Amino acid sequence: MSIINCENRMFSAVQPSGMPTLGNYLGAIRNWVKSQEKFNCIFMLADLHTITVRQNPEEFRKNIIEAYALFLACGINTSKTPFFIQSHVSAHSELAWILDCYTQFGELSRMTQFKDKSKKYANDVNAGLFCYPVLMAGDILLYKSKYVPVGADQKQHVELTRDVAQRFNNIYGDTFILPEPFIPEVGARVMSLQEPTKKMSKSDANANGYIAILDSPDIIMKKFKRAVTDSEAKVEYKEGKDGVNNLMGIYSAITGKSLEEIESEFDGKGYGVFKTKVAEVVIEELRPIQEKFKDYINNIDYIKECYKKSDDIAREIADETVKEVKQKVGFVL
Ligand code: TYM
Repeated sequence: MSIINCENRMFSAVQPSGMPTLGNYLGAIRNWVKSQEKFNCIFMLADLHTITVRQNPEEFRKNIIEAYALFLACGINTSKTPFFIQSHVSAHSELAWILDCYTQFGELSRMTQFKDKSKKYANDVNAGLFCYPVLMAGDILLYKSKYVPVGADQKQHVELTRDVAQRFNNIYGDTFILPEPFIPEVGARVMSLQEPTKKMSKSDANANGYIAILDSPDIIMKKFKRAVTDSEAKVEYKEGKDGVNNLMGIYSAITGKSLEEIESEFDGKGYGVFKTKVAEVVIEELRPIQEKFKDYINNIDYIKECYKKSDDIAREIADETVKEVKQKVGFVL
Protein backbone atom coordinates (compact mmCIF):
# COMPACT_ATOMS: atom_id res chain seq x y z
CA MET A 1 0.00 0.00 0.00
CA SER A 2 1.67 3.22 -1.05
CA ILE A 3 0.78 6.62 0.33
CA ILE A 4 -0.57 7.61 -3.10
CA ASN A 5 -3.57 5.31 -3.22
CA CYS A 6 -4.91 6.15 0.20
CA GLU A 7 -5.27 9.90 -0.21
CA ASN A 8 -8.87 10.00 0.83
CA ARG A 9 -8.55 7.62 3.75
CA MET A 10 -10.63 8.15 6.85
CA PHE A 11 -10.03 6.17 10.04
CA SER A 12 -11.74 6.19 13.40
CA ALA A 13 -12.49 3.97 16.35
CA VAL A 14 -14.64 3.60 19.41
CA GLN A 15 -14.00 1.70 22.62
CA PRO A 16 -16.28 -1.22 23.46
CA SER A 17 -16.37 -0.14 27.09
CA GLY A 18 -20.15 -0.27 27.48
CA MET A 19 -23.17 0.66 25.43
CA PRO A 20 -22.29 3.73 23.30
CA THR A 21 -24.09 6.93 24.26
CA LEU A 22 -25.90 9.68 22.44
CA GLY A 23 -22.58 11.56 22.75
CA ASN A 24 -20.72 8.85 20.82
CA TYR A 25 -23.53 8.79 18.29
CA LEU A 26 -23.72 12.54 17.60
CA GLY A 27 -20.00 13.17 18.05
CA ALA A 28 -18.72 10.26 15.99
CA ILE A 29 -20.83 7.35 14.77
CA ARG A 30 -23.28 9.42 12.76
CA ASN A 31 -20.38 11.02 10.88
CA TRP A 32 -18.81 7.66 10.21
CA VAL A 33 -21.99 6.44 8.57
CA LYS A 34 -22.33 9.56 6.41
CA SER A 35 -18.65 9.48 5.45
CA GLN A 36 -18.79 6.01 3.92
CA GLU A 37 -20.01 7.51 0.64
CA LYS A 38 -17.38 10.22 0.38
CA PHE A 39 -14.22 8.72 1.84
CA ASN A 40 -12.18 5.59 1.80
CA CYS A 41 -13.14 4.60 5.35
CA ILE A 42 -11.79 2.06 7.82
CA PHE A 43 -13.33 1.81 11.28
CA MET A 44 -12.31 -0.15 14.35
CA LEU A 45 -13.46 -1.34 17.75
CA ALA A 46 -10.62 -0.24 20.02
CA ASP A 47 -10.68 -3.16 22.48
CA LEU A 48 -6.97 -2.85 23.37
CA HIS A 49 -7.70 0.66 24.61
CA THR A 50 -10.48 -0.59 26.83
CA ILE A 51 -8.25 -2.72 29.07
CA THR A 52 -6.51 0.42 30.37
CA VAL A 53 -9.43 0.24 32.80
CA ARG A 54 -9.99 -3.15 34.46
CA GLN A 55 -12.72 -5.19 32.72
CA ASN A 56 -14.78 -8.14 33.79
CA PRO A 57 -13.97 -10.77 31.07
CA GLU A 58 -17.56 -11.92 30.50
CA GLU A 59 -18.94 -8.40 30.35
CA PHE A 60 -16.07 -7.26 28.15
CA ARG A 61 -16.77 -10.02 25.58
CA LYS A 62 -20.46 -9.14 25.63
CA ASN A 63 -19.73 -5.41 25.21
CA ILE A 64 -17.51 -6.09 22.19
CA ILE A 65 -20.16 -8.10 20.37
CA GLU A 66 -22.94 -5.69 21.30
CA ALA A 67 -20.94 -2.68 20.19
CA TYR A 68 -20.21 -4.42 16.89
CA ALA A 69 -23.90 -5.21 16.32
CA LEU A 70 -24.82 -1.67 17.23
CA PHE A 71 -22.50 -0.17 14.64
CA LEU A 72 -23.97 -2.41 11.97
CA ALA A 73 -27.40 -1.24 13.11
CA CYS A 74 -26.27 2.39 12.83
CA GLY A 75 -25.42 1.80 9.19
CA ILE A 76 -21.78 0.72 8.90
CA ASN A 77 -21.74 -1.35 5.74
CA THR A 78 -18.88 -3.83 5.88
CA SER A 79 -19.17 -4.70 2.19
CA LYS A 80 -17.79 -1.25 1.56
CA THR A 81 -16.16 -0.23 4.84
CA PRO A 82 -13.92 -2.56 6.83
CA PHE A 83 -14.97 -2.46 10.49
CA PHE A 84 -12.49 -4.60 12.40
CA ILE A 85 -11.43 -5.49 15.92
CA GLN A 86 -8.15 -3.96 17.09
CA SER A 87 -6.85 -6.97 19.07
CA HIS A 88 -7.19 -9.14 15.94
CA VAL A 89 -4.56 -7.10 14.12
CA SER A 90 -1.27 -7.47 15.99
CA ALA A 91 0.36 -4.61 14.07
CA HIS A 92 -1.41 -2.21 16.48
CA SER A 93 0.50 -3.45 19.50
CA GLU A 94 3.71 -3.62 17.51
CA LEU A 95 3.59 -0.09 16.12
CA ALA A 96 2.51 1.26 19.51
CA TRP A 97 5.74 -0.02 21.07
CA ILE A 98 7.88 1.45 18.33
CA LEU A 99 6.11 4.82 18.55
CA ASP A 100 6.42 4.79 22.37
CA CYS A 101 10.13 5.23 21.71
CA TYR A 102 9.45 8.39 19.67
CA THR A 103 7.07 10.01 22.17
CA GLN A 104 8.18 12.06 25.13
CA PHE A 105 7.14 11.52 28.72
CA GLY A 106 6.36 15.26 28.95
CA GLU A 107 4.00 15.10 25.95
CA LEU A 108 2.00 12.25 27.44
CA SER A 109 1.90 13.94 30.86
CA ARG A 110 0.09 16.89 29.28
CA MET A 111 -2.81 14.85 27.89
CA THR A 112 -6.04 16.09 29.47
CA GLN A 113 -7.70 12.69 29.24
CA PHE A 114 -4.81 11.06 31.11
CA LYS A 115 -5.07 13.67 33.86
CA ASP A 116 -8.84 13.12 34.13
CA LYS A 117 -8.66 9.34 34.03
CA SER A 118 -5.80 9.10 36.49
CA LYS A 119 -7.95 11.01 38.97
CA LYS A 120 -10.99 8.88 38.23
CA TYR A 121 -9.10 5.55 38.48
CA ALA A 122 -6.58 6.69 41.12
CA ASN A 123 -6.00 3.16 42.41
CA ASP A 124 -4.90 1.86 38.98
CA VAL A 125 -2.89 4.48 37.10
CA ASN A 126 -1.23 1.87 34.90
CA ALA A 127 1.36 2.40 32.16
CA GLY A 128 -1.29 1.54 29.54
CA LEU A 129 -3.40 4.49 30.63
CA PHE A 130 -0.36 6.73 30.24
CA CYS A 131 0.70 5.35 26.84
CA TYR A 132 -2.86 5.10 25.46
CA PRO A 133 -2.44 8.14 23.12
CA VAL A 134 0.52 6.39 21.47
CA LEU A 135 -1.57 3.28 20.81
CA MET A 136 -4.15 5.62 19.29
CA ALA A 137 -1.48 7.36 17.19
CA GLY A 138 -0.42 3.97 15.84
CA ASP A 139 -4.05 3.11 15.01
CA ILE A 140 -4.33 6.17 12.81
CA LEU A 141 -0.86 6.05 11.27
CA LEU A 142 -1.00 2.37 10.33
CA TYR A 143 -3.66 3.19 7.75
CA LYS A 144 -2.01 6.39 6.48
CA SER A 145 -5.25 8.12 7.32
CA LYS A 146 -5.77 11.76 6.45
CA TYR A 147 -9.12 12.31 8.19
CA VAL A 148 -10.05 11.22 11.68
CA PRO A 149 -13.70 11.90 12.64
CA VAL A 150 -13.85 12.32 16.42
CA GLY A 151 -15.63 14.31 19.10
CA ALA A 152 -13.87 17.32 20.62
CA ASP A 153 -12.44 15.26 23.52
CA GLN A 154 -10.12 13.34 21.16
CA LYS A 155 -8.69 16.38 19.35
CA GLN A 156 -5.61 16.57 21.57
CA HIS A 157 -4.79 12.92 20.83
CA VAL A 158 -5.00 13.51 17.08
CA GLU A 159 -2.71 16.52 17.46
CA LEU A 160 -0.21 14.39 19.35
CA THR A 161 -0.43 11.85 16.52
CA ARG A 162 0.59 14.56 14.08
CA ASP A 163 3.57 15.54 16.25
CA VAL A 164 4.77 11.95 16.57
CA ALA A 165 4.29 11.33 12.83
CA GLN A 166 6.13 14.51 11.94
CA ARG A 167 9.01 13.58 14.24
CA PHE A 168 9.28 10.14 12.67
CA ASN A 169 9.11 11.59 9.14
CA ASN A 170 11.83 14.13 10.01
CA ILE A 171 14.18 11.36 11.06
CA TYR A 172 13.41 8.71 8.45
CA GLY A 173 11.82 10.58 5.52
CA ASP A 174 8.16 10.61 4.46
CA THR A 175 6.47 7.61 6.02
CA PHE A 176 3.28 8.76 7.68
CA ILE A 177 0.51 11.04 6.51
CA LEU A 178 -0.25 13.80 9.03
CA PRO A 179 -3.88 13.26 10.06
CA GLU A 180 -6.50 15.93 10.66
CA PRO A 181 -9.23 15.70 13.28
CA PHE A 182 -12.64 15.90 11.60
CA ILE A 183 -14.91 17.38 14.24
CA PRO A 184 -18.64 17.94 13.62
CA GLU A 185 -19.96 21.51 13.90
CA VAL A 186 -22.76 20.40 16.20
CA GLY A 187 -22.69 17.41 18.53
CA ALA A 188 -18.91 17.44 19.02
CA ARG A 189 -19.30 17.72 22.76
CA VAL A 190 -22.51 16.34 24.19
CA MET A 191 -22.56 16.97 27.94
CA SER A 192 -23.89 14.97 30.88
CA LEU A 193 -27.61 15.54 31.51
CA GLN A 194 -26.90 15.67 35.25
CA GLU A 195 -23.61 17.60 35.33
CA PRO A 196 -23.63 19.62 32.10
CA THR A 197 -20.09 20.90 32.60
CA LYS A 198 -18.81 17.32 32.12
CA LYS A 199 -18.98 15.35 28.86
CA MET A 200 -21.61 12.66 28.49
CA SER A 201 -19.82 9.39 29.17
CA LYS A 202 -20.80 5.73 29.18
CA SER A 203 -18.65 5.22 32.28
CA ASP A 204 -20.64 7.76 34.31
CA ALA A 205 -21.69 6.18 37.62
CA ASN A 206 -25.00 8.06 37.39
CA ALA A 207 -27.04 6.49 34.55
CA ASN A 208 -29.28 9.59 34.45
CA GLY A 209 -26.29 11.53 33.11
CA TYR A 210 -26.20 9.71 29.79
CA ILE A 211 -28.53 8.34 27.12
CA ALA A 212 -27.37 4.90 26.00
CA ILE A 213 -28.27 4.24 22.37
CA LEU A 214 -30.38 1.25 23.41
CA ASP A 215 -32.28 3.03 26.22
CA SER A 216 -36.03 2.46 25.83
CA PRO A 217 -38.29 5.40 24.86
CA ASP A 218 -39.63 5.54 28.43
CA ILE A 219 -36.16 5.76 29.94
CA ILE A 220 -35.06 8.37 27.40
CA MET A 221 -38.11 10.51 28.23
CA LYS A 222 -37.47 10.16 31.97
CA LYS A 223 -33.78 11.03 31.66
CA PHE A 224 -34.51 14.18 29.64
CA LYS A 225 -37.27 15.25 32.03
CA ARG A 226 -34.77 14.97 34.89
CA ALA A 227 -32.05 16.82 32.99
CA VAL A 228 -30.48 19.63 35.00
CA THR A 229 -31.34 23.11 33.66
CA ASP A 230 -31.64 26.41 35.58
CA SER A 231 -34.25 28.60 37.19
CA GLU A 232 -34.73 31.05 34.30
CA ALA A 233 -37.28 28.98 32.35
CA LYS A 234 -36.11 30.53 29.06
CA VAL A 235 -34.82 28.47 26.15
CA GLU A 236 -31.84 30.58 25.21
CA TYR A 237 -28.23 29.72 24.28
CA LYS A 238 -26.09 31.73 26.62
CA GLU A 239 -23.01 31.46 28.82
CA GLY A 240 -23.76 29.94 32.21
CA LYS A 241 -26.82 28.02 30.95
CA ASP A 242 -24.87 24.79 30.48
CA GLY A 243 -27.83 22.45 30.86
CA VAL A 244 -30.04 24.31 28.38
CA ASN A 245 -27.15 24.86 25.97
CA ASN A 246 -26.53 21.13 25.96
CA LEU A 247 -30.17 20.26 25.27
CA MET A 248 -30.26 22.87 22.50
CA GLY A 249 -27.09 21.36 21.02
CA ILE A 250 -28.64 17.90 20.99
CA TYR A 251 -31.87 19.19 19.45
CA SER A 252 -29.94 21.14 16.84
CA ALA A 253 -27.70 18.17 15.96
CA ILE A 254 -30.73 15.95 15.33
CA THR A 255 -33.17 18.36 13.67
CA GLY A 256 -30.61 20.46 11.79
CA LYS A 257 -32.26 23.63 13.20
CA SER A 258 -30.08 26.58 14.15
CA LEU A 259 -29.88 27.84 17.73
CA GLU A 260 -31.89 30.96 16.75
CA GLU A 261 -34.62 28.82 15.22
CA ILE A 262 -34.76 26.75 18.40
CA GLU A 263 -34.97 29.86 20.57
CA SER A 264 -37.93 31.15 18.61
CA GLU A 265 -39.63 27.72 18.44
CA PHE A 266 -39.69 27.57 22.26
CA ASP A 267 -40.18 31.27 22.93
CA GLY A 268 -42.60 31.67 25.85
CA LYS A 269 -42.74 27.91 26.45
CA GLY A 270 -41.34 26.39 29.62
CA TYR A 271 -38.57 23.83 30.03
CA GLY A 272 -41.14 21.02 30.40
CA VAL A 273 -42.31 21.41 26.78
CA PHE A 274 -38.75 21.84 25.55
CA LYS A 275 -37.39 18.76 27.32
CA THR A 276 -40.27 16.62 26.07
CA LYS A 277 -39.62 17.72 22.50
CA VAL A 278 -35.88 17.01 22.77
CA ALA A 279 -36.65 13.55 24.16
CA GLU A 280 -39.11 12.89 21.31
CA VAL A 281 -36.63 13.68 18.54
CA VAL A 282 -33.96 11.55 20.23
CA ILE A 283 -36.41 8.64 20.59
CA GLU A 284 -37.33 8.87 16.89
CA GLU A 285 -33.68 9.12 15.82
CA LEU A 286 -32.72 6.02 17.81
CA ARG A 287 -35.82 3.91 17.10
CA PRO A 288 -34.70 2.42 13.73
CA ILE A 289 -31.23 1.69 15.15
CA GLN A 290 -32.73 -0.13 18.13
CA GLU A 291 -34.93 -2.21 15.83
CA LYS A 292 -32.05 -3.22 13.57
CA PHE A 293 -29.87 -3.98 16.59
CA LYS A 294 -32.30 -6.72 17.66
CA ASP A 295 -31.80 -8.45 14.29
CA TYR A 296 -28.02 -8.21 14.28
CA ILE A 297 -27.41 -9.27 17.87
CA ASN A 298 -29.32 -12.49 17.23
CA ASN A 299 -27.13 -13.29 14.25
CA ILE A 300 -23.69 -13.94 15.71
CA ASP A 301 -22.54 -15.80 12.59
CA TYR A 302 -23.16 -12.74 10.48
CA ILE A 303 -21.31 -10.52 12.99
CA LYS A 304 -18.31 -12.87 12.88
CA GLU A 305 -18.35 -12.93 9.10
CA CYS A 306 -18.31 -9.11 9.06
CA TYR A 307 -15.44 -8.68 11.48
CA LYS A 308 -13.34 -11.51 10.07
CA LYS A 309 -13.36 -10.15 6.52
CA SER A 310 -12.67 -6.66 7.91
CA ASP A 311 -9.81 -7.96 10.10
CA ASP A 312 -8.18 -9.48 7.00
CA ILE A 313 -8.27 -6.23 5.05
CA ALA A 314 -6.98 -4.22 8.01
CA ARG A 315 -4.20 -6.73 8.68
CA GLU A 316 -2.95 -6.55 5.13
CA ILE A 317 -2.62 -2.76 5.17
CA ALA A 318 -1.30 -2.54 8.73
CA ASP A 319 1.35 -5.25 8.30
CA GLU A 320 2.71 -3.45 5.28
CA THR A 321 3.08 -0.21 7.25
CA VAL A 322 4.81 -1.96 10.16
CA LYS A 323 7.20 -3.58 7.71
CA GLU A 324 8.07 -0.21 6.19
CA VAL A 325 8.56 1.33 9.64
CA LYS A 326 10.78 -1.52 10.84
CA GLN A 327 12.89 -1.29 7.75
CA LYS A 328 13.36 2.46 8.19
CA VAL A 329 14.23 2.15 11.88
CA GLY A 330 16.88 -0.45 11.05
CA PHE A 331 15.46 -3.76 12.16
CA VAL A 332 16.65 -6.80 10.21
CA LEU A 333 13.69 -8.12 8.21
P1 TYM B 1 -14.46 6.77 22.86
O1 TYM B 1 -14.81 5.34 22.78
O2 TYM B 1 -14.38 7.42 24.21
O3 TYM B 1 -15.50 7.61 22.00
C1 TYM B 1 -15.75 7.30 20.64
C2 TYM B 1 -16.04 8.56 19.87
O4 TYM B 1 -17.15 9.26 20.46
C3 TYM B 1 -16.76 10.62 20.73
N1 TYM B 1 -17.43 11.04 21.97
C4 TYM B 1 -18.21 12.13 22.06
N2 TYM B 1 -18.58 13.03 21.16
C5 TYM B 1 -19.40 14.04 21.59
N3 TYM B 1 -19.86 14.14 22.86
C6 TYM B 1 -19.50 13.24 23.81
N4 TYM B 1 -19.96 13.34 25.05
C7 TYM B 1 -18.63 12.17 23.42
N5 TYM B 1 -18.09 11.10 24.08
C8 TYM B 1 -17.35 10.43 23.18
C9 TYM B 1 -15.24 10.57 20.91
O5 TYM B 1 -14.66 11.82 20.67
C10 TYM B 1 -14.85 9.54 19.88
O6 TYM B 1 -14.74 10.13 18.61
N6 TYM B 1 -9.52 6.87 22.09
C11 TYM B 1 -10.82 6.81 21.45
C12 TYM B 1 -10.96 5.59 20.55
C13 TYM B 1 -9.87 5.45 19.58
C14 TYM B 1 -9.69 6.22 18.39
C15 TYM B 1 -8.53 5.69 17.77
C16 TYM B 1 -10.40 7.27 17.82
C17 TYM B 1 -8.87 4.54 19.63
N7 TYM B 1 -8.06 4.67 18.54
C18 TYM B 1 -8.03 6.23 16.54
C19 TYM B 1 -9.91 7.81 16.61
C20 TYM B 1 -8.77 7.28 16.01
C21 TYM B 1 -11.90 6.75 22.50
O7 TYM B 1 -11.69 6.38 23.63
O8 TYM B 1 -13.14 7.07 22.04
